[in-house]
Amino acid sequence: MSSNGNNGHIPFVDLVTLHKELQDELVPVFRTALETAGFIGGPMVEQFEMNFATFCDARHCVGVSSGTDALRFALMAAGVQPGEVVITVPNTFIATTEAISQAGARPAFVDIDERTYNMDPAKLQEILETECSLDRETGRPFHRGLQKTISAVVPVHLYGQMADMDPILELARRYNLIVVEDACQAHGAEYFSAKENRWCKAGSMGHAAAFSFYPGKNLGACGEGGAVTTNDAEIARKIRMLRDHGQSKKYYHDIEGYNGRLDSIQAGILHVKLGHLPEWNRKRQEAARRYNDLLSSVDRVIAPYEPEWSRAVYHLYVIRVQDREGLQKHLADAHIGTGIHYPVPLHLQKSYAECGHKLGDFPVTEAVASEILSLPMYPQLQLAQQCRTVEGTTEFVAAGSLR
Ligand SMILES: Cc1ncc(COP(=O)(O)O)c(C=O)c1O
Repeated sequence: MSSNGNNGHIPFVDLVTLHKELQDELVPVFRTALETAGFIGGPMVEQFEMNFATFCDARHCVGVSSGTDALRFALMAAGVQPGEVVITVPNTFIATTEAISQAGARPAFVDIDERTYNMDPAKLQEILETECSLDRETGRPFHRGLQKTISAVVPVHLYGQMADMDPILELARRYNLIVVEDACQAHGAEYFSAKENRWCKAGSMGHAAAFSFYPGKNLGACGEGGAVTTNDAEIARKIRMLRDHGQSKKYYHDIEGYNGRLDSIQAGILHVKLGHLPEWNRKRQEAARRYNDLLSSVDRVIAPYEPEWSRAVYHLYVIRVQDREGLQKHLADAHIGTGIHYPVPLHLQKSYAECGHKLGDFPVTEAVASEILSLPMYPQLQLAQQCRTVEGTTEFVAAGSLR
């Protein structure tokens, strides 16, 4: 994961070069923490929270210990209750649904759009209109099959591209649903809201949003970390309690909470890296454009689709080919790292066997999951490395190996 690309190897992700480049800025963060023994909370966390809220155009940011906790706390603080249903997509990392279950709710799925690979709002509408009855007391949909109330929807901004938020938010308004954005892969991504007639940042559109700072993310810590952004002061207040054992002040526990804080060293590191994030995202966007150009003449390879309303930040650059395993092996033989995000849709994972889903339930996700391949993508990626990756892909296609 973090090889630095020596010996002609093109790593899938290069975290070594990035941290070498930043050493002079990062080492003082550790020194400050050691000299002040400020390891938990304090000014480094508060400063980062303020800056990240500003970056996301959100009023509040609460640092937490991971993206998974950010999702769980956001759902709980926004009002999801045990026994309710939360809708999301099957084409995401399992943390999305783990957080829903950990909040006491039951995840349910809606299929994705064939081109963006994100939640298909038309299919969400279909579920709400055809599989649910309106509960007049709550104004919320009651799912007849599950015999439970749907209280929230979690659109995932996968691969660094935002979900089509206008129609999702419109449905949420109509059905009184909570919206928690899973922005764990989308730091800095933007969506043009026709309704608001402006570009909106990931993390500013739902009731709350969750970010992950896992090291390989566009904004990554040197360890674990996450954050919730929200424009709702009450949600922010509840999350501050949830992350810190339910305390409203030291040793006064209004509720039972969790040990889910963002530590000060990680906050200090994130503060330094946030200063570089706009440039890193621009470099990822440039690299994506170069891949698009290089791949435009390669038959039977589908490049990522970016609608007019999207400014994606390319956490991942995901192509679609028929013999994905064959191409992955061919590139591995040429010392080019790739990834698959994700090979098994969540509804077909063993962990969700009791939900009773079968092959064919979410056909778009299933088709996409069997053909996607993530190519090397990071701000330091060189043109020559991209050319070699595309050459390897072209060779494989030209050899007629794709059927
Ligand atoms: C879409 C998505 N949701 C949630 C998470 C969970 O984040 P973390 O690993 O920080 O808990 C991730 C991280 O990989 C993710 O990619």
